[in-house]
Amino acid sequence: MSDWAHADPTGGRGLFLSFEGIDGSGKSTQARLLAEALRGRGREVVLTREPGGAPGAEQIRRLLVEGDGGRWSPETEILLFNAARRDHLERTIRPALDAGKVVICDRFADSTRVYQGAVRAQLRGLVDQLHRLMIGVEPDLTLILDTDPELALRRGLARGGAEDRFEGFGPGFAQRLRTGFLELARDYPQRCRVLDGNRPVDVLGAEVLAVVERALAGKVRP
Ligand code: ADP
Ligand code: TYD
Repeated sequence: MSDWAHADPTGGRGLFLSFEGIDGSGKSTQARLLAEALRGRGREVVLTREPGGAPGAEQIRRLLVEGDGGRWSPETEILLFNAARRDHLERTIRPALDAGKVVICDRFADSTRVYQGAVRAQLRGLVDQLHRLMIGVEPDLTLILDTDPELALRRGLARGGAEDRFEGFGPGFAQRLRTGFLELARDYPQRCRVLDGNRPVDVLGAEVLAVVERALAGKVRP
């Protein structure tokens, strides 16, 4: 198969970082702070998110996160996440990595492995097959924010908003997701780092930056 998405699994000259964790674990906050810190150190950074991160993928995002909870079958939902991810890769991630930039992605394929592969549905085989066929890329480094589900739920509820198709499942659901992310970290020890997300924003942020600086020193020339 001739497919650029599989040409270089570690993603060109740049550095590909993802944040993962349950809803309200602090991913968006840390992704934004990290982008600011790296830009302040002279790095070119693309801060992006899933589902979304490119105009077409953002349109697919609305199909996924808005509306009735039973709107899609699990299989259709997996196809939509992969369609959004493929567009995101083509339009945003791959060009940025080819240009040597740091890509910070708020969720990536690990979210599909955990949400659709293990917790909302148990379709990990299908998730893995589609990933191999259509995506074929993993981040260089994945930061998993491990946050107490009760705390994350309170944070998420305080935030509010219209994107609630995946929220409101309660702490039992969030606990299963948390376990899923921890198992994933054990499956991919080379690229995954689990960080304690219960700490204050600035304390966690300092550790995130330290871990990323080490990864940059190993991969990207200054
Ligand atoms: P996620 O992207 O994982 O859903 P967010 O970064 O949006 O999480 O954080 C959810 C809410 O919690 C936001 O209102 C944010 O300001 C707040 N928050 C994020 N990190 C922390 C933290 N370490 N301590 C306290 N509140 C936090
Ligand atoms: P997101 O906006 O990142 O939620 P939050 O900021 O609350 O963490 O993602 C929206 C929802 O989509 C979230 O509940 C997780 C879910 N999701 C999946 O189920 N599968 C996926 O592949 C991705 C990327 C997200």
